[in-house]
Amino acid sequence: MRTAFWISILWSLGQWGLGSTMLPPLKFLDDFVQEHSLLGTVLYIPLSKFSNDIIPYRKQARTKVMKVVDMDNPKIRKQNRQNIVDLQVVLDLNSSVSFLADMIGSQTNNDYWLIGVTGMNIPVIKSILDTFAMVLDDQIYLYDIQDTRIILYEAYKVHATKKARFQRIGYWSTSERLQIQNDEIWQRRADLEGIEFKIATLYSPPYLTAKIPINQSDSGAPGSYAMAGMFADVFLNLKEIMNFTFVVTKPEDEQWGAVNSDGITWSGMVGMLQNKEIDMGMNVNKN
Ligand SMILES: *[C@@H]1O[C@H](CO)[C@@H](O)[C@H](O)[C@H]1NC(C)=O
Ligand SMILES: *[C@@H]1O[C@H](CO)[C@@H](O)[C@H](O)[C@H]1NC(C)=O
Ligand SMILES: *[C@@H]1O[C@H](CO)[C@@H](O)[C@H](O)[C@H]1NC(C)=O
Repeated sequence: MRTAFWISILWSLGQWGLGSTMLPPLKFLDDFVQEHSLLGTVLYIPLSKFSNDIIPYRKQARTKVMKVVDMDNPKIRKQNRQNIVDLQVVLDLNSSVSFLADMIGSQTNNDYWLIGVTGMNIPVIKSILDTFAMVLDDQIYLYDIQDTRIILYEAYKVHATKKARFQRIGYWSTSERLQIQNDEIWQRRADLEGIEFKIATLYSPPYLTAKIPINQSDSGAPGSYAMAGMFADVFLNLKEIMNFTFVVTKPEDEQWGAVNSDGITWSGMVGMLQNKEIDMGMNVNKN
């Protein structure tokens, strides 16, 4: 089994050159799908470039846990998008940049992507990833097929204005299967790179007991405040653990927020969230 796999890889290399057409082993895909509690796999490939080595994947496709989609055919690839509980696999980042930019930039859910980067330099991978519209909770994984292992990475952005994070998370081998060093995603992504959040709060003891204007002589005017209280304590700890900063403001109307008469916009902190004036609102509704 193992020999057969490596022979087929060598065969692919000879036939098509490194990178662009290497098929990941079915067992690797299965293990990845199981680890992330997904249902199946959609394999996007330029079908015209494949012959015999795609046969096992085609066979698997009959079981309905795998779908093979021809990337050469734009209509077909659009139709097949997408069941968010499937793993979407693309064999080669370098030759699929516009396809991926389109798919990742337009996703409304966190689709799971597994993208081949075999044979590519890390600076090149990073410069391509920088151009993608990625966010903090994206599920974008990359794999590099090496001699005896497949190295697994993840990619995301802390913020649209930041460069892509590309970090190694583990590996897969035929004997050890999937080994992820730290499988808690929010521990892996805990460093928010000093990003500054805008936060609005309202006085609500004991959770938020004080909003102290940072510039005392501006007391009372909307602006930046320091916080105190139980929520503030948690938040100040998170700030240290997760490497972010924040500025606190308050809603001009001092309200939590309600739907305005137009039925669409909101007042208060909810309205500030809606208008993207703040990243978070913090308050407790005392009923
Ligand atoms: C990546 O693609 C570019 C052209 O799109 C090509 O010049 C380059 O050789 C490719 N690099 C790799 C590592 O495949
Ligand atoms: C916080 O983020 C900044 C900016 O990316 C970085 O320079 C710094 O090393 C980070 N600090 C910690 C403790 O991770
Ligand atoms: C505080 O506000 C006053 C009046 O607006 C201003 O003159 C002063 O420079 C401010 N101080 C700081 C430290 O921002």
